[in-house]
Amino acid sequence: MNKIPVPFKVLQFGLGTMGRIITKTLMDRGNLDLIGIVDVNPEYAGKSVEEVLVSGHKTSTSIFDSLESALHVLGDQPADIALIATLSSLDDIASSISDCFEAGMDVVSLCEELSYPYIRHPELSRNLDRLAKKHGKTVLGTGINPGFLMDILPICLSAPCQRVDTIRVTRRLDSSRRRTSFQKKIGTGMSPADFKTAISEGSITGHVGLVESIRMIDDALNLELDSVVELPPEPVIASTGIITSVADVKKGYVIGLKSNGVGRRQGTDVVTLSFIAHAGAEPEFDEVCIEGYPKIVQRIEGGVQGDHGTVGMILNMIPLVIEAPPGLFTMKDLPCPRNTQSFWRSD
Ligand SMILES: NC(=O)c1ccc[n+]([C@@H]2O[C@H](COP(=O)([O-])OP(=O)(O)OC[C@H]3O[C@@H](n4cnc5c(N)ncnc54)[C@H](OP(=O)(O)O)[C@@H]3O)[C@@H](O)[C@H]2O)c1
Repeated sequence: MNKIPVPFKVLQFGLGTMGRIITKTLMDRGNLDLIGIVDVNPEYAGKSVEEVLVSGHKTSTSIFDSLESALHVLGDQPADIALIATLSSLDDIASSISDCFEAGMDVVSLCEELSYPYIRHPELSRNLDRLAKKHGKTVLGTGINPGFLMDILPICLSAPCQRVDTIRVTRRLDSSRRRTSFQKKIGTGMSPADFKTAISEGSITGHVGLVESIRMIDDALNLELDSVVELPPEPVIASTGIITSVADVKKGYVIGLKSNGVGRRQGTDVVTLSFIAHAGAEPEFDEVCIEGYPKIVQRIEGGVQGDHGTVGMILNMIPLVIEAPPGLFTMKDLPCPRNTQSFWRSD
């Protein structure tokens, strides 16, 4: 007799712009079972996921204001894995990660700094790895970028190269087709002066993760880079008025940005990542160019739609993280990423 396949149980943290897309996709995905959401936003107090999303699902899935209250209702070890889609800084989510280990859950997160945390957070990385091993759990930071387009993809594309001289990755995307939180963090609607101040004060982050992607490539390919720098983001200015979902941008104001990250060895730019995101950018594409032998140029025409690609990445990694040995891992350490909608719990 065929066994009924068992889905992986997921406790999600964060019901923001990404979190909402994740939730909708997760609820429709047969091999994943959303058992609850933790979000600190008071707007969600006392509401169910279904009420917030108006999804038409006949179930009622609770939103909790803390892991503690989730455990109180759902019991200890409520899920196989915690999916954290809240914040970009590892300092800000580290305590949630360790609390999840203690509650018996593996962790997968969109936190950009977790995608390759060893250089920016050496001590925290060691602590998380130690804690993960102590509890027999696994933690991974993933996403579309960092997590795929500017790191794992060029790493894999280097496989047929007998020799790699330089790697250049370029993403150009029309930010007006992306989530509002993304449009805001790249300065859409600001004056150029406010953009500069906001970036230097950190009240907007721009794109986060170029340094992490370069470090991951360096580690995977043993490039022995002697410096990795992210240049200050440059605003892209509207040459004519443009209406976006976050602002009615006047001529002379900011519609997005350009960010560059460079990994150098002995004065040579070995890895160059260019992230260009602004309203109306065209053509959109993701491109990897490896100079070497044989030379490889691979362009994804139209680009991967970042928000949906991010959701695909984090959901697809769930079965691979659950099957992985305990510890802190990055995308280059786990089996080849792939679509896992047909993967089920083995017990
Ligand atoms: N790696 C990648 O490719 C990739 C791609 C997309 C997004 N991301 C990252 O994913 C994260 C989520 O993105 P987003 O656009 O959904 O952000 P968002 O719209 O700001 O949503 C974050 C949500 O998490 C809540 N929250 C904050 N701290 C929390 C905590 N400690 N516990 C539980 N909930 C908490 C927030 O509540 P409040 O609003 O009340 O604070 C908010 O509802 C961001 O850091 C983003 O940069 C990464």
